[in-house]
Parts: sequence; C-alpha cells; structure tokens
Amino acid sequence: MPVKERILVIGACGQIGVELTLALRKIYEPQHVIAADLRDEHPLLKGTGPYVTLDVMNREMLHVLVIRHHITQIYHLAAILSATAEKNPALAWHINMQSLIHVLEIAREENLHKVYWPSSIAVFGRGAPRQQTPQHTILEPTTAYGISKLAGERWCEYYHERYGVDVRSLRYPGLISYKSSPGGGTTDYAIEMFQAAVENRTYTCPLAPDARLPMMYMPDAIRATIELMEAPADRISLHSSYNLHAFHFSPTELAAAIRKHVPEFEICYQPDFRQQIAESWPESIDDSQARRDWGWKPAFDLESMTVDMLQNLQQLRKKN
Ligand SMILES: NC(=O)c1ccc[n+]([C@@H]2O[C@H](COP(=O)([O-])OP(=O)(O)OC[C@H]3O[C@@H](n4cnc5c(N)ncnc54)[C@H](O)[C@@H]3O)[C@@H](O)[C@H]2O)c1
Repeated sequence: MPVKERILVIGACGQIGVELTLALRKIYEPQHVIAADLRDEHPLLKGTGPYVTLDVMNREMLHVLVIRHHITQIYHLAAILSATAEKNPALAWHINMQSLIHVLEIAREENLHKVYWPSSIAVFGRGAPRQQTPQHTILEPTTAYGISKLAGERWCEYYHERYGVDVRSLRYPGLISYKSSPGGGTTDYAIEMFQAAVENRTYTCPLAPDARLPMMYMPDAIRATIELMEAPADRISLHSSYNLHAFHFSPTELAAAIRKHVPEFEICYQPDFRQQIAESWPESIDDSQARRDWGWKPAFDLESMTVDMLQNLQQLRKKN
C-alpha cells in the first residue's frame, strides 16, 4: 500500500499559505495536512484541519513537530517579503536563510519525501534581460530579499545534489488574491488598487505609472505549486527553482483594465522606495522549462483575473 502523505505547511496563515492549505486539504485527508504559523489561526482555516503554533526559527520545536505528526512533506512558506526586508535587511537574511536551513536539515535527517520552498522573480537583478528573462541568466539581485532567495535556491540545489533531498521550487511573480492579505511585497499594490476600486476610493500608487512587472492570479499559483509537487521525479530537471509566468502589467495598464468595469476609478502616483525594487526586477519571464518539464500552463490572463477579483471583492464587501 502506498505511504499516506502527511504534510506540514509552515507560514499557513499568509497570503499563499491559507489558499494552499485549503487546496491540499481537498486532495489529501484534511487531518493529514497540518497548518503551522506564528500567528493565530486564520479564520478561513478554522475547522478545516489541524493547526499548530510554530516558530520555524526554533529548530527543536520544528523537529519535534515533524516526528510527532509523522510528517512526510513540508511546504515552507514563512519568510520576510521584499518591501519589509528593505526596512530590516539583516533580519530578513537571518529569517529567510536560517528557516530554510532548518527545514532542509530536518528533511535530510528524517528522510522526508518532498520539500517545497518558494523563490521569487527578485533573484534577478539589473544585469538580467528584463523582457522574457531566461531561466539561466545573470543573477545579481540588489535587494535583501532577492539576495536571500538566490542563496536559498543554491541551498535547495545543494541539498538535492549532496543528500538527495527532493526539494522543489518556483520563482513566483507578484501574486494577486482576495482571500488573505498580502504580507509586505512590492507587488501588493495591485491588490490595494482592486480594493480601492471596489470601495470607490482614489488609489495612491507607490510605483511609477509604467513600472511593469510579471504577475499571476492566486488560483494559478496554487495549481502550479501542487502540479510541480505532484509531478513524477523524473520530470523535474531543476532543483534550484523554476521560472513561472502568467501575464504582466504596469499600474497604468491595471488601472485601465479595472476602469473597463469601474469607469469612475481614479489613480494618482507617489512612487516610494518600492519603485527602486520594481526597477531591478524583470518585466516578463520565460517559463518554457516549466512548461516543457511538467506541463505548466496558466489559466488566467489580465482580463479574466480582473473580472474575477472585482466580482469576489464586491461580494465580500456586500457580506461585511
Ligand atoms: N506573495 C507573493 O507575491 C510572493 C511572490 C514571490 C514569492 N513569494 C514567497 O512565497 C512565500 C509565502 O509568501 P506569502 O505572500 O504567503 O507571505 P506572507 O507574509 O503573507 O505569509 C508568510 C507567513 O509566514 C508566517 N511566519 C513568519 N515568520 C514565521 C516564523 N518564524 N515561523 C512560522 N511562521 C512564520 C507569517 O506569520 C505569515 O503568516 C514566501 O517565501 C515569499 O517570499 C511570495
């Protein structure tokens, strides 16, 4: 009989964690998907499966949890994101690196079946081509967050090469969602713009009008993550991190897409330090290796994502 997977999601109360945990609980027995976070349990997770409070920086606590719950897979999502990291770079390095090393070491010691750890488009810096940024190119990140993600990718590949840990990873673009709040990234502005549009507020954008960045709607990001993790091992040719793309837009282009449905929506611009971060990142990504290896294909484009976001945010507003 195949071994029943028991999955630990670290950072389960974050923007990605909530939706990923709920999706995993639809595929696996909900009792076997353990959500863990520093924060109180997210309201959307309540009653859907086990929840534990965990500080991933506490290696002993993490190790005991893995043994006690017979964990076979870890999704490690806890991190300090790009905009927050620029405010405290040393802390971001410490948390993003040390937490990953804890997870990889425990995966090695306990022979876990698989580990998932997300990287980001922040690994690229000004030296990389900004359009259709290739999988393999110059990687010279200029942000604290990007430096930690690039080092993390190297550690993932190292643990795979040296110890055979089956670690898998995606370089997420900016992720757009409405269920759980974003956690301090440079692309959070897009979500704030949708919220302002449904609340009939003028939006003040922290990026310049033409700051074009790669983006993805959360249902696609969750599906990509699960498809990558479910793919047979012989389809995975990269254990650092896969480029991943859906669509790209600038604040002006997103505002125009929103105005097709909310004609009175207004935006003004006050670029701050996040504009410098955006300028060091790609505009679009070549994700052909992910498409070739495990069949990645996005379902949402800018227009269909805009319609879905507005509908869902309007419904939530009516409910509250
Ligand atoms: N959201 C995006 O657009 C995006 C894009 C690229 C990469 N990523 C990556 O995906 C991962 C998840 O991102 P997210 O947007 O869900 O972030 P988030 O900030 O919304 O969630 C992170 C969660 O981790 C928890 N956490 C922080 N420190 C912890 C600790 N010491 N122990 C346990 N839990 C802790 C937080 O409480 C939070 O709930 C991160 O690695 C991030 O770098 C996200």
